[in-house]
Amino acid sequence: MKILMAAAELSPYAKVGGLADAVSGLSKALAAEGHVVRICLPYYGEGSNLQNGGEGSEKVFEAELPLRPSRKVKLRVRPSPEPLDALVLVDEPLLFSRAGIYGDPATGQGYEDNGERFLVFSAAAAAAASLFRHLDGFTPDVVHCHDHQTGLVPAFLRHGAAGLRPEAPVGTVFTIHNLGYQGVHGADLFARTGLDSHLMRPLGPLEFHGKMNLMKAGIALSDRITTVSPTYAEEICTPELGEGLDGLLRERRGSLIGILNGVETEVWDPATDRLIPFRYTPGNLAGKGKDRKALLEAFQFSGTGPGTPVLGMISRLAPQKGFDLLLQAIDAIMEMDLRLVILGAGDEEYRRGLTEALRRHPDRLGLRIGFDERLAHLIEAGSDMFVMPSRYEPCGLNQMYSLRYGSVPLVRATGGLADTVVDMDEDPPRANGFVFRQYLALELVKTVRRAVRAFGDRKSWKELMRRGMETDFSWNRSAARYLEVYKAAAAEARRAA
Ligand code: ADP
Ligand code: GLC
Repeated sequence: MKILMAAAELSPYAKVGGLADAVSGLSKALAAEGHVVRICLPYYGEGSNLQNGGEGSEKVFEAELPLRPSRKVKLRVRPSPEPLDALVLVDEPLLFSRAGIYGDPATGQGYEDNGERFLVFSAAAAAAASLFRHLDGFTPDVVHCHDHQTGLVPAFLRHGAAGLRPEAPVGTVFTIHNLGYQGVHGADLFARTGLDSHLMRPLGPLEFHGKMNLMKAGIALSDRITTVSPTYAEEICTPELGEGLDGLLRERRGSLIGILNGVETEVWDPATDRLIPFRYTPGNLAGKGKDRKALLEAFQFSGTGPGTPVLGMISRLAPQKGFDLLLQAIDAIMEMDLRLVILGAGDEEYRRGLTEALRRHPDRLGLRIGFDERLAHLIEAGSDMFVMPSRYEPCGLNQMYSLRYGSVPLVRATGGLADTVVDMDEDPPRANGFVFRQYLALELVKTVRRAVRAFGDRKSWKELMRRGMETDFSWNRSAARYLEVYKAAAAEARRAA
């Protein structure tokens, strides 16, 4: 199959969270199976490492996008490292050449023109679906769009002006990575799309309480919808986690499926990871002990003995991730004999709360604010446990990385966390971690206590680690399921044509 991916993030070029890893992992797994995969993403500035690597090898095309008024962009087609076919980079310096991907890294504030930025990006991605027909014969069977930044792509492919609507039918798949971010913009932006006004009528596919909702557009107008875990697919159809779109999602339930993300094992494997000082395998954990030492040194906890568990956290500092719970629980957690190291970037409120907690507990708590890929790998490798008390979690990649790195996950049962972590006391023969259900600080404290106690029994702890490390979370299985979805979407588009 020929697949055009459209996404705002892609590892290792431009990453804010798991979206980048998921798009990369899925694309490579599909390409390794022989499918032709091109990935369209914005040509970001210093906030990415896209600015190097294209010299000489890129083909550059000018495209005039039929928006109102029209907008010129360059499409840079960069042959990408095997097995992918190419990157299609949407180059418009005024919109994309900035320090951050969605917002100013210094203030954490989103860019005010994100509506315009992702409208132009989506139009460019739609244009790219027909661009290659006469150049090298790449006519995608499917355009796979990821999250609200690409929500207008299906609208443009189906209803857009000439130049955005491909001659041959193309299936559209829209993946919800996080319903908590929908891209809601003023209705005035709709005029820029050049789309027919019926789409923006009250209760129409783009209209949301008088505004334009890009996530809603993607859900309403694509042939198939997926989300990143089976449990989250159920949860978003309820008012509790449907974020105001549960009605539409229930309507489209027959076209919605949850497919668990995988782990890109070339990047996240302790046996080959080049970002950690010492490598290890389930059969030989000596390297993990040394990584643990390196991690403790990095946080000035050198004297910590092997009996004291090291807990790790790597996360966007966002309400979704349960930091309010952690901050309520942290004084009680810090009474236990443990070390907790946290790496995170994001909301000011949580930065402040964590910094204050650090002041109270400098001997047991370690904190790094910022985005640091290398430290993230060291935390996975060097920690004994990994904490994810998420309020909701569409999939979550870090618990899967942790399982693979022998850092036993301690999670709240929601979304993909519920689909991947089995509690030690609930189901001992299958257990790979610790799970709590109610979103309460007390439950988090109790679960940490349970885990710390279990850590004391070295034999059963090793067994728990090993079970996690040996679980297969590779992308192959999920990619095969996406392929089924692609076939259904392509067939649907052909039928409609
Ligand atoms: P989400 O996409 O909601 O942020 P995931 O668990 O799916 O959550 O993926 C998060 C990814 O981003 C992981 O690869 C994690 O290691 C990475 N990450 C998050 N915050 C940071 C940070 N401050 N520094 C380095 N990597 C980070
Ligand atoms: C989102 C979700 C996360 C998921 C990731 C990749 O950012 O918050 O749970 O793992 O996308 O799909």
